[in-house]
Amino acid sequence: MAKLKLGILGSGSGSNMQSIVDAIEAGTLDAEVKIVLTDVPGAKILDRAAKHSLEATYLDCAPWKTKLEGPAEDRCIEIMKAAGVDTVVLAGFMRIVKPKLLAAFPNRVINIHPAILPSFPGVHGWTQALDYGCKVAGVTVHFVDAGTDSGPIIVQKTVPVMEDDTPETLHARIQVQEHIAYPEALNIIASGKYRIEGRRVRIG
Ligand code: GAR
Repeated sequence: MAKLKLGILGSGSGSNMQSIVDAIEAGTLDAEVKIVLTDVPGAKILDRAAKHSLEATYLDCAPWKTKLEGPAEDRCIEIMKAAGVDTVVLAGFMRIVKPKLLAAFPNRVINIHPAILPSFPGVHGWTQALDYGCKVAGVTVHFVDAGTDSGPIIVQKTVPVMEDDTPETLHARIQVQEHIAYPEALNIIASGKYRIEGRRVRIG
């Protein structure tokens, strides 16, 4: 299979992008990062991108606060296409992506969510799991569809919930698994050895 050409969208620290870049640099993921976009001016993901000499820029998504739509969506698609992106990676991107972006990259928009879906979609999945009283929590990497955190699942990993966990300690434990899960999921896509059958991603 050809090397994946990644376009990364993130809103925060960018630790998931870092795990992907580290895997590429270690030679364990056959991919290259073509462009990094953030909807948050000054987000730490931009500093991380700069350290690795990756092309990265701020994408103004106004007037919407929770979705990527309208001129910003058009601009995003334009930038990604111009950069030669074939796979869009949502790495802590805190906006809903809409059908136009999905249509521009069919079955090639991937998301990481900090919960064992279909439980706890939306924001702060780890806090939702803690508040619910779950004894396990975790992470899901999935293809993005038109719903919220509802697309076919590629990889899931669990972590235990400890008696003395706070949202912060649980999220930190989940993030360790996120940084394993995202490169693993992208490797599956890079291998080409999978097929999407309804909700199921059949691997191998
Ligand atoms: C991660 O925990 C990711 O799962 C979560 O945001 C964090 C971003 O961390 N994403 C979502 O909640 C998406 N709904 P990072 O910026 O360090 O990669």
